[in-house]
Amino acid sequence: MRLILLGPPGAGKGTQAKRLEERYGVVQIATGDMLRAEVKSGSAIGLEAKAIMERGELVPDSILIGMLAARVQAPDVQKGFILDGFPRTVPQAQALDGMLAEKALPLDQVIELKVDDAALVERIAGRFTCAKCGEGYHDRFKAPKTPGTCDVCGGTEFTRRADDRAETVAARLEAYHRQTAPLLPHYAAQGKLQQVDGMAEMDEVTRQLAALLDRKPF
Ligand code: AP5
Repeated sequence: MRLILLGPPGAGKGTQAKRLEERYGVVQIATGDMLRAEVKSGSAIGLEAKAIMERGELVPDSILIGMLAARVQAPDVQKGFILDGFPRTVPQAQALDGMLAEKALPLDQVIELKVDDAALVERIAGRFTCAKCGEGYHDRFKAPKTPGTCDVCGGTEFTRRADDRAETVAARLEAYHRQTAPLLPHYAAQGKLQQVDGMAEMDEVTRQLAALLDRKPF
């Protein structure tokens, strides 16, 4: 399976990519997570990306295309992948088309998670993550079963992303509409674009995704 999940910040790409990764045994490639790891490590890429991400803007294509090109060389990726957060601009999509054509690894599907802008701010503002295992939570939509304790690993420390402040979310949404939404016609023209209702409850979104993915054997 070679799949792109497209959608605005907070649409549920990461939540659903993790579920699909488990269900289909393919690898989630999340460029936001890769960049946050670079920031944490203090690498040259991380130093360049940090301020850009905190402003809610997109990191330059040259950095992202280089990162992705390196990641798609890895042996685990040959079995299949779910791209979460890449591509985000037309030049990134064109570079990805070229990389996959060179390796004779065609994309199977591009699925857009459709969510109203008004719902996204609440989703992002309520999001937090277990500092120990990375499990994602939400104050309202997915709270830990025991308050303050991670359901998965029992960790008691949680983190919130630096770019999840309301003013940054507005800039991220603006970047999505201006730079990423033009990818929808790009993939529609290739006959690869499908949509699911990202406003639905999480399990229902997973069900809709699986219904699309199970139509085609991978
Ligand atoms: P990135 O990390 O990719 O963030 P994003 O696209 O803004 O997406 P999010 O991670 O915020 O949201 P999501 O769709 O994964 O939603 P989630 O599942 O967490 O990018 C961050 C930054 O890195 C960018 O701004 C940019 O600077 C840079 N960057 C990354 N890639 C780049 C690229 N290719 N080019 C240039 N720059 C790049 O869900 C959100 C919350 O909602 C969670 O709490 C969840 O529990 C809840 N939720 C999920 N689904 C539902 C549902 N159905 N109902 C109710 N709640 C739900």
